[in-house]
Amino acid sequence: MMRKTFPILGGTLAASLSLAAMASEPAATAAPAWTPATLMQALQAMPKGDAERGKQLHSELFCASCHGVAGESTTMNWPSLAGQRAEYTYKMLLDYKTKRRMEDQRSRLMLTAVQNLKEQDMADLAAFYAAQPLPAMQGGNEVAEKLVRQGDPTLLVTPCAACHGLQGQGGVNETPALAGMTPEYFVRTMKHYRDGSRDSDVMQAMRAFAKPLSDAEIEALASYYAPAAK
Ligand code: HEC
Ligand code: HEC
Repeated sequence: MMRKTFPILGGTLAASLSLAAMASEPAATAAPAWTPATLMQALQAMPKGDAERGKQLHSELFCASCHGVAGESTTMNWPSLAGQRAEYTYKMLLDYKTKRRMEDQRSRLMLTAVQNLKEQDMADLAAFYAAQPLPAMQGGNEVAEKLVRQGDPTLLVTPCAACHGLQGQGGVNETPALAGMTPEYFVRTMKHYRDGSRDSDVMQAMRAFAKPLSDAEIEALASYYAPAAK
């Protein structure tokens, strides 16, 4: 079978970004925003994933070169995928492919990476990441602990743990695990929800929770969910 491989291996991030920009000039239009009903339909139609085949794709398609051999990110700047819920990964791959998720130049790297993926491929990759152990998280800082367990009623912030779980293990449907998430990526993506440039979340939910948070609170949350020191 012919498979287009990802053209970038190594090099500086800046070089990769400009290469990726040349490789794919995304069309301006994205698929229509998700509604709870269309998202539910898409998740219900997700093919049964084959983790073994996903493992093979992860290496053949060079996902491993950026996301690590077992989905454990090799830099604090790029998201970790190990132990992630399959529904979330599947939704993200769909979101990149349909250009619903395009918050910055880094998302364009993903746009190129997923272009030729079929739904079965996405489900297999998602099953592979879900089968990897979720990294342990650092926890233990007061500012974050309070937001995670109690939220902030004055700012209408629901406790993160109500959806993402007390151990950061993720929740129902597309609600992702956060435990062990790389902190630089965590901060960036929370700010993207806050400023509305990451806008593929259904019903604007994460955008609403991120909106009232200060930079300091986002940084405290990032270090709470960061990988525990080994
Ligand atoms: C050149 C590096 C690179 C390659 C190759 C790459 N990725 Fe990514 N990936 C990234 C970056 C950077 C992000 C974060 C993008 C953003 O901030 O929007 C990302 C985001 C993701 C996300 C979303 C994670 C989250 O927590 O929301 C998934 C899932 C993902 N990649 C899977 C894959 C798969 C599967 C492949 C192979 C088909 C792949 N990636 C190839 C760099 C890469
Ligand atoms: C009502 C449920 C709910 C609450 C409360 C909630 N989240 Fe989320 N969160 C979600 C869902 C669903 C997604 C996936 C959104 C998407 O599709 O982009 C998400 C996505 C995220 C992501 C992106 C993860 C990734 O890998 O890119 C981060 C980070 C995050 N949430 C952090 C938080 C924090 C911190 C709080 C508390 C201040 C919080 N969330 C509160 C449901 C929730």
